[in-house]
Amino acid sequence: MPYRTIRDLDLAGKRVFLRVDFNVPLDAEGKHISSDTRIRAALPTVRQILDSGASLILASHLGRPKGKPNPKMSLGPIAVRLSELLGRPVRMLPRGTGDEVTADQTVLAPGDVVLLENLRFHAGEEANDPNFARALASLCDVYVNDAFGAAHRAHASTAGIVEYVSECAAGLLMEKELKYLSMAVREPPHPYIAIIGGAKISGKIDVIRNLLQVADRVLIGGAMTYTFLKSQSVPVGDSLVEDEKLDLAAELLATAGSRLMLPTDHLIARELAADSETKTVDGSGEPIPDGWKALDIGPATIATYQDEIAKAKMIVWNGPMGAFEVEPFAHGTIEIAKAVAASGATSIVGGGDSEKAIQIAGVGARITHISTGGGASLEFLAGERLPGVEALGGL
Ligand code: 3PG
Repeated sequence: MPYRTIRDLDLAGKRVFLRVDFNVPLDAEGKHISSDTRIRAALPTVRQILDSGASLILASHLGRPKGKPNPKMSLGPIAVRLSELLGRPVRMLPRGTGDEVTADQTVLAPGDVVLLENLRFHAGEEANDPNFARALASLCDVYVNDAFGAAHRAHASTAGIVEYVSECAAGLLMEKELKYLSMAVREPPHPYIAIIGGAKISGKIDVIRNLLQVADRVLIGGAMTYTFLKSQSVPVGDSLVEDEKLDLAAELLATAGSRLMLPTDHLIARELAADSETKTVDGSGEPIPDGWKALDIGPATIATYQDEIAKAKMIVWNGPMGAFEVEPFAHGTIEIAKAVAASGATSIVGGGDSEKAIQIAGVGARITHISTGGGASLEFLAGERLPGVEALGGL
């Protein structure tokens, strides 16, 4: 691969700028972290850099503060959590740019860790302003990008900075993400099954199209099913439909043939509510009546999908099979999570909802790779080049 990783560099005594994706969910006040998965995912890189005798300047965005400081999007709580996980102090630097954070403040001893304040408090970050990129670069000797989750953004800290730092490399998380996601789009083992769910076709159309080129089957679930079915004039009752995508759905079905599989039966309800009346309808016989909406895949679909999954050597899964956050409609998604884990295939799961389903099913340890990138993994699976990866030398 053309890009270098931290294993290729001698970091002893150097100041390393490590771009991470600490864009973690916080409560409304911005004080409590509800999931530290992304912080934990960066720990192997953080530890390896510190163990090699370097000092560390960590930097991330958090939320979308639109170029202005916003206390609800401060990285303060993250410094506290990171310090707990690392078992050493993590000093917050008050602002986080070369404007205010001078090289003096980053005179660090080997093993020191500082965290810059939210990069997006400065308009120069998202604008990929060369002055801002140069200011960030002036803080360090080596630039390392481990922020796979932000690799689809051409920002100063993910792309522009490489122009001004002589030694640049990928971190271990970035390397792992690229290893597995590349396998999914380039040379997958076969049989290869892609499972794509979620509410809307619109965000995933390019992914479905690209994966149809490499996968043996693409299994569809979630509300996007009903845009596909309506495009074939199948009655879908009050199910969610993107009417403006009907032509696109019909075109995709026509070109994909039997490789694109749709649910054949559905769990329907009058309302998306835990106490709503539910029933299963077989799409080929009984239609989904008006006043009812489909909220999960039915038992026959689960069984068909389980059979496909059991045969696979490679699986990519993004998006739930139904409205799994409300208990009566979680069954399909949880059964698919269990089937993916039990398959023994190389499995890659992306997207917050599928990841949540994996955790609810208690099968996280049996998934080969759970991607930390939402938008970034979708763009990669759609076959797009990611600016953050290109900046390191590409794939
Ligand atoms: C994400 O959560 O997908 C990344 O951190 C990127 O965040 P963004 O969509 O605000 O650029």
